[in-house]
Amino acid sequence: MKKAAILLVLLFATVANSSQKDGLLSNGNFELGPKPSQMKGTKVVDRHAIPNWEISGYVEYIKSGQTQGDMLLPVPQGDYAVRLGEDASIKTKVKLTKGVFYSISFVFARTCAQEEKLNVSVSPNSEPNDWGILPLQTMYSSEGWDSYSWGFLAEADEIDIVIHNPAVEKDPACGPLIDFVALKALKTPKRPRGNMLKNGNFEVGPYIFPNTTWGVLIPPNIEDDHSPLLGWMIESLKAVKYIDSEHFHVPEGKRAVELVAGRESALAQVVRTRPGKIYDLLFSIGDASNSCEGSMLVEAFAGKITMQFPYESKGKGGFKRARLRFTAISPRTRVRFLSTYYHMKSDNSGSLCGPVVDDVRLVGVRNPHLP
Ligand SMILES: *[C@@H]1O[C@H](CO)[C@@H](O)[C@H](O)[C@H]1NC(C)=O
Ligand SMILES: *[C@@H]1O[C@H](CO)[C@@H](O)[C@H](O)[C@H]1NC(C)=O
Repeated sequence: MKKAAILLVLLFATVANSSQKDGLLSNGNFELGPKPSQMKGTKVVDRHAIPNWEISGYVEYIKSGQTQGDMLLPVPQGDYAVRLGEDASIKTKVKLTKGVFYSISFVFARTCAQEEKLNVSVSPNSEPNDWGILPLQTMYSSEGWDSYSWGFLAEADEIDIVIHNPAVEKDPACGPLIDFVALKALKTPKRPRGNMLKNGNFEVGPYIFPNTTWGVLIPPNIEDDHSPLLGWMIESLKAVKYIDSEHFHVPEGKRAVELVAGRESALAQVVRTRPGKIYDLLFSIGDASNSCEGSMLVEAFAGKITMQFPYESKGKGGFKRARLRFTAISPRTRVRFLSTYYHMKSDNSGSLCGPVVDDVRLVGVRNPHLP
């Protein structure tokens, strides 16, 4: 009797423990790979050859040091990655908590000059046509790798996550490399006193891999319910970069956003306002201390007002506070930020960078005649 009880407790403990914690998924770094008999060259020929993953289509298992033509594929030393050929996908099952919002992060590298995309989806999912298309257009890091993130609500305690390369009729030898797949549970931040915005300091966002120095991209054109940066959405065509204080200069707290794609990416939040009332939008602009130098301009929009705020970057980290005063013209106001110019790092990597925005607050102005 006692033994059975202990066994039950043990069983329960094992089940509870196997639920996904923040961080790398089980074999999320693909260090466990196929047996030689499950491969043909670099191509994986058995659907279940990579532990914890199920593959479909043309998937390659790539070891560091491997070349394609004269190009060295950018897999870190001693590491492995998978490559998704056209219409190929990888799938994994994870135990999560139903009703919790999660963000998925993974590291990728493009291997061809052509534009590539990835399609991330989860099931079960009650919404039709619900997936995220992440464009891998531009290089933002100097290392050949970037990271992407995407958010979803867990509709069950066990979820399938699929990463799919939707490309067809392209060069079959092309397709992105993928490594380090991780999850993080995101808790809706409380609006602090004295700020009408949600997550104005960007502290609640996707997992950033501790060993990576390039932050993580927040994808463009995503609906609110898939934004891994809670409260915020990215309008228009290109991503913004989410950065951490471990690797970058961040004006406040541990996280901030770098506007890496000029006028092609805007960071926005919609907030309830009272028409006719005056508000101040207060924020920090600065640089991430990542060799991104020059005269920067951040454009802020609210109500009918657009204003440009200059910042001179020496690329060594710094920030200043800025303020946009506006009168609300409707019960909902969209506040938006973008970078007027494109910037490139001065390290000859050709990678894009830009001004940093952080610590955004929206407050009602009681007495507009005071400064
Ligand atoms: C994205 O993936 C989902 C699930 O695998 C699939 O149903 C959908 O058709 C894909 N979308 C595109 C545009 O390829
Ligand atoms: C980070 O790097 C350290 C030292 O190289 C290594 O021990 C650790 O496993 C790495 N962590 C991840 C998540 O790759």
